[in-house]
Amino acid sequence: MTNISIAPSILSADFAKLGEEVAEVERGGADWIHVDVMDGHFVPNLTFGALVMESIAPHTKLPLDVHLMVENPELYVPAFAKAGAHMITVHAEACVHLHRVLHLIKEHGVKAGVAINPATPVSAIREVLEDVDLVLIMTVNPGFGGQAFIPGTLRKITELREWKQEHGIDFHIEVDGGVTSATAPLVVEAGADVLVAGSAVFGKVDRRAAMAEIRDSVTL
Ligand code: DX5
Ligand code: ZN
Repeated sequence: MTNISIAPSILSADFAKLGEEVAEVERGGADWIHVDVMDGHFVPNLTFGALVMESIAPHTKLPLDVHLMVENPELYVPAFAKAGAHMITVHAEACVHLHRVLHLIKEHGVKAGVAINPATPVSAIREVLEDVDLVLIMTVNPGFGGQAFIPGTLRKITELREWKQEHGIDFHIEVDGGVTSATAPLVVEAGADVLVAGSAVFGKVDRRAAMAEIRDSVTL
C-alpha cells in the first residue's frame, strides 16, 4: 500500500570512492541518489560542487536529487543541470526571489524542489506550491549527517499532505534528516513519499539490508 522512494545521501558515503558507493546502493535497491551540496555559508559545512557530481553521474542510472544548501543557489543551477541533475532543490531561506529561481531550474529542463528548515513554517512556501515538483521538509537542521530527528517537523508534513488533497495538486514530499527504520513510519504516516537517509544507509556495512529495513518499517 505504501509506495515510497528511498534516496540515500552520499554525504555519509566514502568520498574516496563515490562512484562505487552509488553503484552499490543502486544494486541494493535505492530509488534516487541524494546529493548534498553545502557552501560553508548557508550551512556550517562544506561538501562539493557540480564537478564532483559530474564524475559520479556515469556510475548510476538513478535520478540525481540535488539538495543545494548554499546562498545564491541560482548561480549554480546551470552547472548542476549540465552535470546531470534530475531534481534541484533550493532552500526558501536562501532565495529572495524564490519563484524566479524555481522557474530558472525548470527552464534548464530539471525538476524543481523547495526545502524548508525546521524553524520555517509551511506558510513561507505556500505561494509556490503550484510551481514545484517536490517539497523537502528538513527534519534536522541542515549541515551534518547523523543528527537526531526533530519530531515537531511531523505536523508540517501533515499540513502539506492536506494541502495537496484540498487543492488537488501533486508534488513529492521528501524528508531529510534522522530518517531510520524507527522514524520512517512516522514520516510516511504523516504523508512523506521520498525518504532521504544518509547514516542509516551508508553508515551500515550492508547497505541493501539497511534500505530493506527502512522499507519494511513502512510496509509491514
Ligand atoms: C543534512 C543533509 C542530509 C544528511 C542526512 O544537512 O541535507 O541529506 O545527509 O543525514 P542523516 O540521514 O544521517 O540524518
Ligand atoms: Zn540533504
